[in-house]
Amino acid sequence: MENFIKMVIDSDPLVTELNRLAEFSDVPSPAVTRIMLSDSDLAARKYLCGLFQSAGLEVRTDPAGNLFARWVGTEPDLPAVGTGSHCDAIPHSGKYDGTVGVLGGLAAVRAMQKAGLRPRRSIDLVMFTSEEPTRYGVGCLGSRLLSGQLDPSDADQLVDSEEKTFATLRKETNLRGSLGDVPLPGDAYVAFVELHTEQGPLLEQKNIDIGVVTHIAAPSALRVSYQGVGGHAGTVLMEGRRDALLPAAKLVVAVDRAARDLGSKDTVATTGLLEVYPGAVNSIPRRTQLEIDIRDIALDRRDLVLAHIAREAQSLGEEHQQKTVVEQINADPPATCADLVVQAIEEACETAGVSHQRMISRAYHDSLFMAQVCPTGMIFIPCREGVSHHPDEFASPDALGNGALVLAHTLCQLAEAKPTRPKGKGSNV
Ligand code: GLV
Ligand code: MN
Ligand code: MN
Repeated sequence: MENFIKMVIDSDPLVTELNRLAEFSDVPSPAVTRIMLSDSDLAARKYLCGLFQSAGLEVRTDPAGNLFARWVGTEPDLPAVGTGSHCDAIPHSGKYDGTVGVLGGLAAVRAMQKAGLRPRRSIDLVMFTSEEPTRYGVGCLGSRLLSGQLDPSDADQLVDSEEKTFATLRKETNLRGSLGDVPLPGDAYVAFVELHTEQGPLLEQKNIDIGVVTHIAAPSALRVSYQGVGGHAGTVLMEGRRDALLPAAKLVVAVDRAARDLGSKDTVATTGLLEVYPGAVNSIPRRTQLEIDIRDIALDRRDLVLAHIAREAQSLGEEHQQKTVVEQINADPPATCADLVVQAIEEACETAGVSHQRMISRAYHDSLFMAQVCPTGMIFIPCREGVSHHPDEFASPDALGNGALVLAHTLCQLAEAKPTRPKGKGSNV
C-alpha cells in the first residue's frame, strides 16, 4: 500500500453519523446517555453494524459485546492492525467521547478505500464494550477482558444497580459464549491506535492540530459504604443519632484535601457518586455509598493518595460508629505508548501536513489495556475549551477531518509493518 497516494477525508458524513449516533440516547439532545447494553446502546450498535457492513467490513461480536469490523487485508494471516474506541456514554455527556474513534476509524477506512488502497494486514475497527464504568463500576470492561486483565468469572458476577449480573445481561442481550474466550491471542495485533478527543484544553490553547499521546495516566477507584441508623427526621433527637451521611460528607472533603495536600498538580481525586438511602427529606440517612476516582501520572503518588483516602474512609466510619466497607474497584498502572506507533503517528502528521505535539492522556482509554497486548498509541484532536463528559462537548469538522486523516495515514503505515519473530505475548511485531 502506498503512503504517498493522496487521501482525503470528507468530514460531512462523519459529522452526520456522529449526530445520528447521538440520537441513540436516553436523554434529549444535546446531552447523551448511552449505558452499555441498554436499549439505546443496542440500537446504536445496530446502526453501527449497518455502517460497517456497507463499507464492506466483516463484523463479529465477542461474548463480552466487543464489536470487531474487519477490513480483510491482502495477507489475512498476518497479525492485524487495530483501531477503534467506545460508544457508551456516561449520563448527560456529549456526543464525541469515544464515538470519534469509532466513526473516525470508519472514515479513515473509507478514505483508504476511496484512494484505491488495500492493506496488506487486515484492519480491525473495534468498538469496545463499556469503556465507561457507569453500569458495573469498572471502566474499560471490554478491553480489560480482551487484554486478560480481568478474571472472566469475576466479570460475569459483576452486578449493576438493579442487581443484574453481567452474566444475566449477556444472556438477555444474546451475547453467547464464555468470557474465557474473550482474551486476545498475543499475535492478534501488530499494533493498535485509538483516535480520541483530547478532553482537555491544551491543543486548542496552543492551536495545535494533533496530540500524539506518549503516556496514559494511572486511574483507580474506591467504593465506600457506611451503614448508620435511619429514622424519623422530626422525632429522633440529635443526641445519639448515627446519620450515615455525616462520615460520607466528611469523606468528600477529605478526598479533595488528599489530592491537594499529598499529590502534585497532576494528582486528581473526585467523589463522583454519593447515594443516600432512603433519600427522603424527612428521613435520617441510614446508608450511604460513595464512588471515588483517583488518578495521577505517577503510580507511587497515586497509590499514596489512594491508600490515604482508604484509611480516612475507615477511620471516619469508626468515628461515627458505623459499619464501613471500603472496596478497591480498580488500581491500574499507567501505560506507555509504543515508539512504533508514536513514530507512525508523527510521520502521518507530516504526510497530512498538520501540526502536532507529544502529550500525555489524563483520561483513561481502552488503549490503557490494549497497550498490555500490543504496541499501542493514541491520536488526540482538540475539543472546544477542553470540555468533555458534558453536553457542551464539541469537536469541529476540521478537527475531526484532521484526526481521521492522520489515523488513515497511520493505519497505512502500520498495515505495512514488517512481521518480526514473536517475542512472547504482546510483543509480536
Ligand atoms: C474515561 O472516560 C475517563 O473517565 O477517563
Ligand atoms: Mn469518557
Ligand atoms: Mn472516551
